[in-house]
Amino acid sequence: MYTSISLAALLVRAVAALVLEDGVGKLHALGWNSWNAFGCNINETKVIAAANQMIALGFKDVGYEYVNIDDCWAAKTGRDNSTGQIIPDPAKFPSGIKGVADRIHALGLKVGIYGSAGTQTCGGYPAQIGHEQLDAAAFAAWGIDYFKYDNCYVPDGWIDTYTACVPDQWQKYGPYVNGPCGVSASDAPIGYDWASSNTSHRYNIMRDALLAQNRTILYSLCEWGQANVQQWGNATGSSWRISGGINPYVNFWGHNDADMLEVGNGNLTLAETRSHFAFWAAMKSPLIIGTTLESLPDTHVNILKNKYLLSFSQDQVHGAPAIPYKWGTNPNWTFNATHPAEYWSGKSTRGILTLALNGLDTSATREILWGEIPHLDTDSDAFMTTDIWTGKSLGCRKGGIKTVVQSHDTVGYLIGEKCTPG
Ligand SMILES: *[C@@H]1O[C@H](CO)[C@@H](O)[C@H](O)[C@H]1NC(C)=O
Ligand SMILES: *[C@@H]1O[C@H](CO)[C@@H](O)[C@H](O)[C@H]1NC(C)=O
Ligand SMILES: *[C@@H]1O[C@H](CO)[C@@H](O)[C@H](O)[C@H]1NC(C)=O
Ligand SMILES: *[C@@H]1O[C@H](CO)[C@@H](O)[C@H](O)[C@H]1NC(C)=O
Ligand SMILES: *[C@@H]1O[C@H](CO)[C@@H](O)[C@H](O)[C@H]1NC(C)=O
Ligand SMILES: *[C@@H]1O[C@H](CO)[C@@H](O)[C@H](O)[C@H]1NC(C)=O
Ligand SMILES: *[C@@H]1O[C@H](CO)[C@@H](O)[C@H](O)[C@H]1NC(C)=O
Ligand SMILES: *[C@@H]1O[C@H](CO)[C@@H](O)[C@H](O)[C@H]1NC(C)=O
Repeated sequence: MYTSISLAALLVRAVAALVLEDGVGKLHALGWNSWNAFGCNINETKVIAAANQMIALGFKDVGYEYVNIDDCWAAKTGRDNSTGQIIPDPAKFPSGIKGVADRIHALGLKVGIYGSAGTQTCGGYPAQIGHEQLDAAAFAAWGIDYFKYDNCYVPDGWIDTYTACVPDQWQKYGPYVNGPCGVSASDAPIGYDWASSNTSHRYNIMRDALLAQNRTILYSLCEWGQANVQQWGNATGSSWRISGGINPYVNFWGHNDADMLEVGNGNLTLAETRSHFAFWAAMKSPLIIGTTLESLPDTHVNILKNKYLLSFSQDQVHGAPAIPYKWGTNPNWTFNATHPAEYWSGKSTRGILTLALNGLDTSATREILWGEIPHLDTDSDAFMTTDIWTGKSLGCRKGGIKTVVQSHDTVGYLIGEKCTPG
């Protein structure tokens, strides 16, 4: 199928990881997506307005670059009967996706689109299975830069033999990862290679179709963390959605996707908004804003533009995410969905980022002790410290920081050079 030597070479390398020659995908994506803001009720006016807001609100200046059109962009009536081509809905997108992409590119931004590795998208629109090459070529011709591939309407011929249980992880992390093992006949046997699963195959067909285009299209897997995607996702896409759990299989070129941001939506308090963004950034998840930008308050804009968190998440040298080092309310290394680990740290070029969450419903004291942070140099007990939310230097701090944290809030500090307290 691949006639050129260089494409074949690219695919050989893709087995180890989806490494693109132009560097796209080394760091996780920053952008906006239409779904959480508009659901199916999208059109080109709204997408172009979002692109303009990305610039007006300064998001482009701090690195956000993708404007992603989610589900419901295609004509629901179906493909062109003679060519099989997928058709953008002419009422919603009178300029076509190409016309919208041209306008977004003219603003210096990139454009993303959505599909599903099934017979229909989750919203019931034409999808990609069986049409991968045709659609990848259409996306490339339109100027698409990012493709999110959902997992709805998987046809019978593509169901995984095994559905539950990842024994290797179960032994390591406990039975909460994808359910208990050895209970039903559909549990994968010990040592099962999920890279040979039908799910992996479905997503690889699309990867190959995208790689065969003469255009870089960042490939975002949205298969809901199924089929032990952590095992094969790095060779298939640039990011993959996770099911849950706190095992960060993250490094350059491969990113756990904790799902799009809800900043600006629903009932999140300002404290919860801070925590949400801080942890998505600390985990190095793609940061995809999903709200109506016109009505986003400045407080929220500023959280999304926090330079300490963005520079941690986009660090060019350190690819690993922050990790929990102490659970806080609960005993270390216990899993509890409503009370996750509270103390986290991670390494970056600018220093060690440390976060402390208060998951309780009341204010509580959180004490970050330098001696407990695994990333910190143990031969010093004093470090230059900056509050990531205020940007204020706290000077040379000895021992650590003890502070009252309001309910569901997260405090964060950038710990810099060793110092001598004055
Ligand atoms: C998109 O929707 C908005 C709000 O309903 C409307 O004002 C606008 O005219 C629509 N644009 C197109 C191209 O349909
Ligand atoms: C394709 O053909 C079917 C059946 O004739 C028709 O209902 C449908 O509208 C056609 N779709 C397009 C996009 O022309
Ligand atoms: C893939 O699906 C087909 C059809 O359902 C099934 O026969 C086959 O065993 C599946 N393969 C794997 C590896 O699960
Ligand atoms: C691939 O795209 C580049 C940049 O648009 C272009 O210069 C080149 O001619 C294209 N190559 C092929 C084989 O189409
Ligand atoms: C993905 O593959 C790249 C390139 O081989 C490697 O540097 C990186 O550590 C891998 N990431 C993960 C999460 O395994
Ligand atoms: C907001 O909170 C209320 C009360 O907790 C809840 O009933 C409602 O569903 C929430 N709304 C959203 C959009 O999450
Ligand atoms: C939890 O981890 C922290 C940091 O390593 C350590 O200081 C503390 O003693 C541990 N607590 C328990 C109960 O093991
Ligand atoms: C989760 O942690 C909270 C706080 O310690 C505790 O009250 C609750 O019982 C725990 N839940 C589970 C399922 O362990």
